[in-house]
Amino acid sequence: MNKLAHRKEVDKEGLNLGEIRKDFPILETVVKGNPLVYLDNAASSQMPIQVINRISDYHLSEHSNIHRAVHYLSEKATAEYENSREIVKNFLNIESSKEVIFTRGTTNGINLVCQSYGSKFLKEGDEILISYLEHHANIVPWQLLSEKIGTKLKVIPMTDDGDIDFEAFKKLITKNTKFLSLTHISNALGTVLPIKEMVEYAHEYDIPVLVDGAQSVPHAEVDVRDIDCDFYVFSGHKMCGPSGIGVLYGKSKFLEKMDPYEGGGDMILSVSFEKTVYNKVPYKFEAGTPPIAQAIGLGSAVEYLQEIGMDKINQHEKNLLRYATDELNKIPGVRIIGTAENKAGVISFVIDGVHPHDIGTLLNDDGIAIRTGHHCAQPIMDKYKIPATARASFYLYNTMSEIDKLINGIYSIKKLFGA
Ligand code: ALA
Repeated sequence: MNKLAHRKEVDKEGLNLGEIRKDFPILETVVKGNPLVYLDNAASSQMPIQVINRISDYHLSEHSNIHRAVHYLSEKATAEYENSREIVKNFLNIESSKEVIFTRGTTNGINLVCQSYGSKFLKEGDEILISYLEHHANIVPWQLLSEKIGTKLKVIPMTDDGDIDFEAFKKLITKNTKFLSLTHISNALGTVLPIKEMVEYAHEYDIPVLVDGAQSVPHAEVDVRDIDCDFYVFSGHKMCGPSGIGVLYGKSKFLEKMDPYEGGGDMILSVSFEKTVYNKVPYKFEAGTPPIAQAIGLGSAVEYLQEIGMDKINQHEKNLLRYATDELNKIPGVRIIGTAENKAGVISFVIDGVHPHDIGTLLNDDGIAIRTGHHCAQPIMDKYKIPATARASFYLYNTMSEIDKLINGIYSIKKLFGA
């Protein structure tokens, strides 16, 4: 059994983990007699009390429908909703709040671009490039579009380490390549893609680029103007915010020309049975009553993360990743899947002779929450010829002691299986 020393949980980078963890009441959960060790943050992170209170305050004293009435509560709710748009705009260094569209999440944002941009500006025979590192949200919507209009999906390969094959990417671009859609960070392997370089290269050929930031916005400073991508999507529930809310950033020059994705109230200026005039962006893309409380909660989550500091959070996760990688590498029979040089706080692994689902179930007995399965990224599993991995993913509230518990848990599983 590996014996690892207990340590004082104040991170080198100055994150006061004791204080941070107090913000997350759910971390006090006891599972089967053990304190919860929550290492499933790539699937969904936890919400701090500040965000929970903000959403609760909204419901207690600010709730109404928005953009519709002149009464006090409607104006208050509208102002708070629009304030969240402004917070997101500043967070990602977006030029104008018109370029911030509230969506239901990453998947919804990608589908919106597929349908509103793809259906209008792409045609039969056009090629859409994605990479091997995508999760299903950045594969299936493009397949649906291709079935509908006859576009072709091409896939940039990855190396055995789980890195993007940049040279192959360059070779895949042809005169027919009309769109590039890429993840910023792989949810299954943690690989950080050289996104700025890829956008720059695609733009040399006038190819618009969508970046899926579901795993990057929660964990690192993102500046969409520096990346210069044309679209960027992410979800609230992976960044200390609620579920059911996300953001699509799009450059005005594209959004202005795209058709609405869904029709309904709020996305119109006037409606008659003969003709409807659409509202301006971003409202053109926000049909019906939006998730108001969730948008306000997302704004609050952004403020929470900003107050702690994205650079500190990022450095803390790098420290956790380095430590977890070193410790896992010491265990015979454990193989890390995805060993790219530039990785975020996600670590996928397998244990010889033990199915990943058994790893997940047995770790749960110790109170440790990881995700097991294909992580909504089946092509990556196919590449490694495995059905699934066990995946631990870190966030600002995780500690080195929790990684010690994960490592000890893995030693116990190996012993149980005689592996
Ligand atoms: N995309 C989410 C994950 O990585 C659900 O687990």
